[in-house]
Amino acid sequence: MTSRPALGPLALGALLALAPLSAPVHAEDHSFGQIKIDAGKELFDADCRRCHSTDADKSSYGPLLEGVVGRKAGSFKGYPYSPALKNANIVWTTGGIKAWMEDNDGLVPGTKMRHVGITDPTVQDFIIAYLQSISG
Ligand code: HEC
Repeated sequence: MTSRPALGPLALGALLALAPLSAPVHAEDHSFGQIKIDAGKELFDADCRRCHSTDADKSSYGPLLEGVVGRKAGSFKGYPYSPALKNANIVWTTGGIKAWMEDNDGLVPGTKMRHVGITDPTVQDFIIAYLQSISG
């Protein structure tokens, strides 16, 4: 094994393997929900956190994503959005954020966010679960 941060692909693989993706998820199943949130946090750390803070005390290159689910695009106070995102006139639903992760340039052309291209629906789902957990 090469040296890697604490939660490498193996541990993440184990988390993903734990998730019974074909089974219906019941709202009251908190343990399953927590597994998704934890996995989503690891994925967010790997793919998004270098540009996005989730803590209002920390500034970041991209807008704060705490509370992003249900927020109007381009509306986090004080963040210097591109005109493209500011004028996009969309509200961030879970589906919208998935589409954005998959192809942000396609969804809203001309923004400042470099294309991230998260196309795996499982990865999208987990990141969404994490973002929902930090959105009121
Ligand atoms: C290379 C830096 C970078 C990475 C990596 C990145 N983003 Fe972004 N993101 C940005 C920037 C910059 C903006 C603001 C774009 C603008 O104003 O045009 C943004 C905007 C957003 C927005 C819109 C927020 C709002 O307030 O309207 C969402 C949602 C978002 N990113 C989600 C993600 C997710 C989820 C990931 C990880 C899968 C991610 N981003 C990875 C830089 C990044």
